[in-house]
Amino acid sequence: MKTEAELRHLLSEMTQEEKIAQTTQVIINYYQKTGTEVTGPMGQLGIKSESMKDLGSVLGTAFAEDVIAIQKKYLAENRLHIPMLFMTDVIHGYRTIYPIPLGLGASFDPALVEECSAMAAAEASANGIQLTFAPMADYVRDARWGRVMESFGEDPLLNSTLCAAETVGFQGRDGDVSKPDRIAACVKHVAAYGGAESGRDYNSVEISERLLREYYFPAYKACIDAGAKALMPSFNSLNGIPSTANSWLMKEVVRGEWGFDGVAISDWGAVMELVRHGVAADRKEAARLAGENECDIEMMSSAYYNHLAELVAEGIIRQETLDRMVLRILRLKNDLGLFDDPFHGASPEKAKALSLCEAHRALALRAAEESAVLLKNDGVLPFSTEVKKIALIGPYASEHAIIGQWKARGLAEESVSVEEGVRRLLPDTEILTATGCSFLWDDLSEEGFAEAVETAKGADAVILCLGEPDRYSGEGKCRTDLRLPGAQEKLAKAVSTVNKNTALLLFAGRPLVLTEVEKTVPAILEMWFPGNEGGNAAAHLLFGKACPCGKLPMSFPKATGQVPLYYNRPSTGRPKKKPEGVYEDFTSNYIDCGNLALYPFGYGLSYASFVYSSLTLDKTSLDPDGELTVTVRVKNEGSVEGKETVQLYLRDLVASTVRPTQSLIAFEKVTLAPGEERDVVFKITEPMLRFYDFHCVFRSEAGEFQISTGCADRLILTKTFTLTEGRS
Ligand code: BGC
Repeated sequence: MKTEAELRHLLSEMTQEEKIAQTTQVIINYYQKTGTEVTGPMGQLGIKSESMKDLGSVLGTAFAEDVIAIQKKYLAENRLHIPMLFMTDVIHGYRTIYPIPLGLGASFDPALVEECSAMAAAEASANGIQLTFAPMADYVRDARWGRVMESFGEDPLLNSTLCAAETVGFQGRDGDVSKPDRIAACVKHVAAYGGAESGRDYNSVEISERLLREYYFPAYKACIDAGAKALMPSFNSLNGIPSTANSWLMKEVVRGEWGFDGVAISDWGAVMELVRHGVAADRKEAARLAGENECDIEMMSSAYYNHLAELVAEGIIRQETLDRMVLRILRLKNDLGLFDDPFHGASPEKAKALSLCEAHRALALRAAEESAVLLKNDGVLPFSTEVKKIALIGPYASEHAIIGQWKARGLAEESVSVEEGVRRLLPDTEILTATGCSFLWDDLSEEGFAEAVETAKGADAVILCLGEPDRYSGEGKCRTDLRLPGAQEKLAKAVSTVNKNTALLLFAGRPLVLTEVEKTVPAILEMWFPGNEGGNAAAHLLFGKACPCGKLPMSFPKATGQVPLYYNRPSTGRPKKKPEGVYEDFTSNYIDCGNLALYPFGYGLSYASFVYSSLTLDKTSLDPDGELTVTVRVKNEGSVEGKETVQLYLRDLVASTVRPTQSLIAFEKVTLAPGEERDVVFKITEPMLRFYDFHCVFRSEAGEFQISTGCADRLILTKTFTLTEGRS
C-alpha cells in the first residue's frame, strides 16, 4: 500500500494528459478484445487507441482472463505503472443470482442482505471486478418505474438499513477492500432518481428539500456512513439541475454535510447528457459543469478527455480541482491494493470454483425463500406432498428466465424453473404442464385456455405461474398499466374457477395490480424474480418444506391510477371517515377506487399463526435524554415454526409541519416455534422522533406520539406517550 505522501508524489509526477486519462472510463465491449484499438462509440467519441495505457478505469469486463490480460498489457505500457480499475454492475449476484433487491427487501433481514452481497463480492472479485455500481439506494414510491426492482422499497428506514448492510457485505466489516474477496461499493443514483415524474425513467424530479431529506437522502447517507468508497450522481434533473452538475447536491450536501471524500463517477454518458438537458451549450461546457462539481470519473462519454486540459489551461477549472479528482481516484486504487496486486486476486480457477458452488446455491435458495411474500391464502397452502397429480399452468411454469434484470454474468439456463423445482421435490408425483397464454402485454390470445383448463380440472393441486417478463422491469422499462400483461388475468380466472385447489406464483420486478386476480385465486405467493434457485424455493414454499415469511417492501396498488402509492402518507385536512371502498364526498378519496393499497407495506402471511397480545410502554413520558422501552408480545399459535417481522410504527400527533399518519421506526425478525411466545423489545429515544421541519431543521417537538405494531394500514395495539421537550 502507498502512503498518502507517496500518492501525492505520484500525482506530482503525472502529466496533465495522464491525469485527465485517469478521469476517463472506457467500456470494454466497445473496443476490440485485444485492446489495441478503441473502436465503437468510444472511438467515435474521440478516445484514441494510444491513450488506452493511461485510462483510469474499465467498465463491463466479465472474466478474470480478460482483466488479467488488459491489466498486464497496459500496466507494462503505463509510464508510472498506475493500474486500471475494473468496474461493473453487481446488483443481485455475479454468477450465482439471488433475488432482485426489491425481493430481498421483503426479507427485512440485513444479515441476509450482507451475506448475499459478500457472496456476490467473492464471485465478482475472483472474476476481476474491483468495484460494483451498487447499492442502488434510490427510494421509490411509483411502481410504474422499471427500476423499482433494484430498490429496497418505499420505507426510508428499511431502505437505509438494507443498503448499509449491502455496502458492508461488498466491502467487509472492516471496510478493507484490498482483501481479494471484497469489492468497493458505489452508492447510486444520487439523488432521487426513483422520484422520476410519472414513473418514467430519466424524467425530471421536483421534490421539496424537506422530502428529499426525510425520505430520499437517508439511504445514500447510510451507505456513505457504512464506508461506501464511491458514489454515482443520478441522470435526472433535481429541482431543475441535473445531479451531475448540481453543486448544491454534490458539494454542499454530499461532500459537505455528509463528509463524502470518495470517488464520484458519472452515470453512463451523463456528462454529455448535460447538453441534452439544455444546461450546457456544448460538451466543453458539460465538462466544465461536471468538473467544477468534482464528478471525478466520466463514464461512457469523452467530454473530460477532450476538454478538461483546455478548461484548466484557460483557468476555467482550477488545477487544484483536477488534482483533487485524480488524487481521489489514486486513493481508491490504493485502498483496493492495486499498486501491490493489480489483479486484486482475480483468478479463473477461483472464479470457476466459486461460481454456483453448493454453498452459494444454498444461500441463493435461502434468500429466495425468505423473500417470497404470501399475499393470500384461503387455506389451500401449503399443498400436501401426498397429492397425486399436479398441474403447472401459465407462461412461467417451465420458464428459466426468472433471475430478473441486472443479472451480471448470471444465466437463465442455470436457474431452476418451477417445473424442475417441483419435480425435484416430488419425483414420484404426476406433473402436467400447460402454458395457457403468453405474458406479453400485446398478446391477448386465449388459444391455450382450453388445454390449460382441462389440465387444471383433473389435478389435485394447481400451480398457476404468472407474471411480467423479466424484460418489463429494469432500466428504461416503465409501464403505465400495472396489471398482469396479456390474457393472464383471464387465464387465472378460468383456471381457478374449475379447480379451487389453486395457488398463484407471481414473478415480477414490481408490485402488480392484483385486484381482479385476487377475487378468484385462493392463494397468491409473490416470488419477485427469485434468482437461480427460484424453482426450488417455490416448490419448498408451496409444499410446506419452507414457511413464507416475507413482508412487502412496497405497497401493491388496487389500481394503477393510485400510484405513486405509499403507506407513510401525510395527513390531509379532509381524511375520509367511511370505510375503504365507500365513497365520501368532499373528502380525500376516489370515486372509483379505495385509497388504500390492496396489500400494504409490511404485509405478508405465514403458515404459522402469529398472535400479538400486547404492546406495553415502560413509561408514558419520554425525557429527551432518556429512553422508552416498548415491548411487543407475540405468540406463534400455529402448528409450524415460522418467522415474523415485528414492526413498530410511529405517529406524531401534532407538529409544526404535517406528519405522516404512520412511519416505521423499528423492526425485528424473530423465529418462533409452535406455541412459543416472545417479548420483542424496542428502545425509543428522542432522535428517533426527529423530522425535518418547514425550514429543514432536523428536530423533535414536544408533544404526544402514538406507537403501534402490525403492518402499514393495519396498525394494532396503539399506545400513546409524550415527549417532554424537543431537541435539534
Ligand atoms: C445505469 C447505472 C449503471 C450504469 C453502468 C447506467 O445506464 O443507470 O445504474 O451503473 O449504466 O452499467
